[in-house]
Amino acid sequence: MTTKLLLLPGDGIGPETMAEVEKLVALLNEASDAGFEMETALVGGSAYDDCGKPVSDATMDLAMQADAILFGAVGGAKWDGVAYELRPEAGLLRLRKDMELFANLRPAICYPALAGSSSLKREVIEGLDILIVRELTGGVYFGEPKEIIDLGNGQKRAVDTQVYETYEIERIARAAFDLARARRGKVTSMEKRNVMKSGLYWTEVVTRIHRDEYADMQLEHMLADSGGMQLVRAPKQFDVIVTDNLFGDMLSDIAAMLTGSLGMLPSASLGAVDAKTGKRRALYEPVHGSAPDIAGQGIANPLAMIASLAMCLRYSFAMTAEAEALESAIAEGLDAGIRTVDIMRDGCRQVGTAGMGDAVRDS
Ligand code: NAI
Ligand code: MG
Repeated sequence: MTTKLLLLPGDGIGPETMAEVEKLVALLNEASDAGFEMETALVGGSAYDDCGKPVSDATMDLAMQADAILFGAVGGAKWDGVAYELRPEAGLLRLRKDMELFANLRPAICYPALAGSSSLKREVIEGLDILIVRELTGGVYFGEPKEIIDLGNGQKRAVDTQVYETYEIERIARAAFDLARARRGKVTSMEKRNVMKSGLYWTEVVTRIHRDEYADMQLEHMLADSGGMQLVRAPKQFDVIVTDNLFGDMLSDIAAMLTGSLGMLPSASLGAVDAKTGKRRALYEPVHGSAPDIAGQGIANPLAMIASLAMCLRYSFAMTAEAEALESAIAEGLDAGIRTVDIMRDGCRQVGTAGMGDAVRDS
C-alpha cells in the first residue's frame, strides 16, 4: 500500500526547510515499509505567479486525495499589491476551509538544551510538554454579521459575531479528550463564561461530552484571561488546553514564546474523518511564516518543519515510534550543540539549514 504525502513548500524559506523533510521521508522509506509517495505542488505566491491563484483547483484535488499534507509557509512583499482574495495566505485559508480542518494543534515543548534561552526561569519551563487545541473554523473570525456599518452621523459601527453551534463544540471537545488520552489524561477548557453566552454554552457542551464519553479523564475549566496568566506563571500544570478560535490564537502564541524560537514550533490542523476513506484530513505546518528577511540564504531553521513531520507520523499514520525517534533526533542535535543562527549561543556550532537537517538524520 502506498501512502500519499502532498508537499506544499510555498514561498520564502518554505522550499528550503521542506527539502530537509523530503530527505527524511526518503530515509523513512528506506528504513521501514512506510511506502510514502511524495508529490509536490505550488501554493501561495509561487502558485499565484504560476496560475493567478494562491492554490489551483488541481492542487485542491491533490489535497483532497492525499493522506496528509506537509505545508511550508506562504507570503512575501512581492505579493503585497495582489487583490485580497488572491493573496498568498488565501491559499492556506482555502485549504483549511475546503478540508474542514477544525482542530489546530500547537504543542509547546521545551527542549532541555534550549531551556535557558527563554526569558522565563529554567525551572518554570524545563521539561514542558503541553498541547493547545484551538478551534479553527468557527467563532468570531467567521461569524455573521461581520461588517462596518455607516450610521450616517459621522459614526460607524464595526461588528464581529462570535457564533458556536453544538456540533462544533462537541467535535473539538472530543478531539481534545482523544489527544489527552494518549498523553497525561487532563483537559483544561478555556473560555469567558462570565461575560459571553458562547463561553457559557461552550462550558456546558464540554462538560456534557466529558460526563457522557470521557468520564475517566480529568476536566478543568478556566477563564481564558486567567489561563493566559497561568500559562506564563506555571505552564507545567497543563496537559491539553482546548479553546475557541480567538482565545486559541492568542494563547498558542503565548505558549510558543515559553519555548524559545519561532523556528522550533510545529503545528497540525486536523479535520473530519472522510466518510469514504475512513481517513482524517490533516495538514502539518511550522508556526512561522516565510521569513523573507532570511529566505534564499540557506540559514533558516528547519526544525519546526521537521517537527511537523513528526506530528504527521504520529497523528496521521500512528507511527509513534518513528515520531518519537525523530523528536529524539532533534533533541540530540541540540544537545550536541548544533544550532542554526536563530538559536545560536556561545560555545555551540553554527550550521545552515542543510547542516541542521544532516544533524537530525545522523542522530
Ligand atoms: P515570520 O515567521 O516569517 O518571521 C518572523 C521572524 O522570525 C523573522 O525575523 C524570521 O527571519 C524569523 N524566522 C521565522 N522562521 C524562522 C526559521 N525557520 N528559522 C529562522 N528564523 C525564522 O513572520 P513575518 O515576518 O511576520 O511574516 C513574513 C511573511 O510570512 C508574511 O508574508 C506573512 O504573511 C507570512 N506568514 C505566513 C504564515 C504561514 O504560511 N502559515 C504564518 C505567518 C506569517
Ligand atoms: Mg496567531
